[in-house]
Amino acid sequence: MNTYSLIDSGNGYKLEQFGPYTISRPCSQAVWEPRLSQESWDHAHAFFSREGQNKWTFRKEKLPDMWHIKVADIAFKISPTDFGHLGIFPEQRAFWKWIQSTPIKGKRVLNLFAYSGGSTLAAAQAGAEVCHLDASKGMVAWARENAALNHLEKAPIRWIIDDVFKFLGRELRRGSRYDAIILDPPSFGRGANGEVFKIEEEINKLLRSCRELLTPKPLFILFSCHTPGFSPLVMKHLLHQNLDGLSGTIDEGEMLLEGSTETFPIPSGTFARWQYAG
Ligand SMILES: C[S@@+](CC[C@H](N)C(=O)[O-])C[C@H]1O[C@@H](n2cnc3c(N)ncnc32)[C@H](O)[C@@H]1O
Repeated sequence: MNTYSLIDSGNGYKLEQFGPYTISRPCSQAVWEPRLSQESWDHAHAFFSREGQNKWTFRKEKLPDMWHIKVADIAFKISPTDFGHLGIFPEQRAFWKWIQSTPIKGKRVLNLFAYSGGSTLAAAQAGAEVCHLDASKGMVAWARENAALNHLEKAPIRWIIDDVFKFLGRELRRGSRYDAIILDPPSFGRGANGEVFKIEEEINKLLRSCRELLTPKPLFILFSCHTPGFSPLVMKHLLHQNLDGLSGTIDEGEMLLEGSTETFPIPSGTFARWQYAG
């Protein structure tokens, strides 16, 4: 099946291949010069711009409403949205591979802010029981479509549409516990009933709730985000402080959009990951 690749970046844009389609989208980090000629960029199938207003334009025909690609052995439905997203954050690709190879068979994994389900499906492929949470009904439906595309419709996945704090509060009261937690909070978001989520104000409370939800001998917490100012060291400090009392190791770094060796990888968010050191 078709896959994803970063082709080039520069002048505030990135040029990406999503299966058969080449798409140019804004990328504020790409302040360098592009590697490829203007002609190669002009040859893209579609262009998304935020100059003035969000706008798609096309070289010839409009893009289809949807198509499928495979990234890290996970099939995704790709569909262009009005705000320039396509239903996948390929900078998570390295984590999906890591999750697939982690011994989580039969373990309970919680995926918060789970979007189109890349991490949920990677964990299900590894044999975990997954709880998938997102406030957006449309995104949960999209993730379920992705599960079906991967023949995982019968896998042990709980699909929850709710605000993150409402759900975590309920889980804590019921005594639910998880062996691993994945969270990719947005800078700003809204819960299922319009509850406002601002990462700077909520992150400590969120990580403390995650800590309380862990089993006595948990496996990992994978925490990523795309918020300016949340550098790898900031992410590490946050995990270190809020996972108080858990012995293990933390690694941290930048998430990258990657292409061939000649293409500059684009820093696209940061992560910190705690793992049990048994
Ligand atoms: C940055 S995306 C996550 C990207 C995803 N983890 C991935 O890499 O493919 C943020 C997601 O958080 C959800 N969200 C925003 N605010 C929320 C809230 N208060 N409770 C639950 N989910 C929320 C949004 O609907 C969106 O799907």
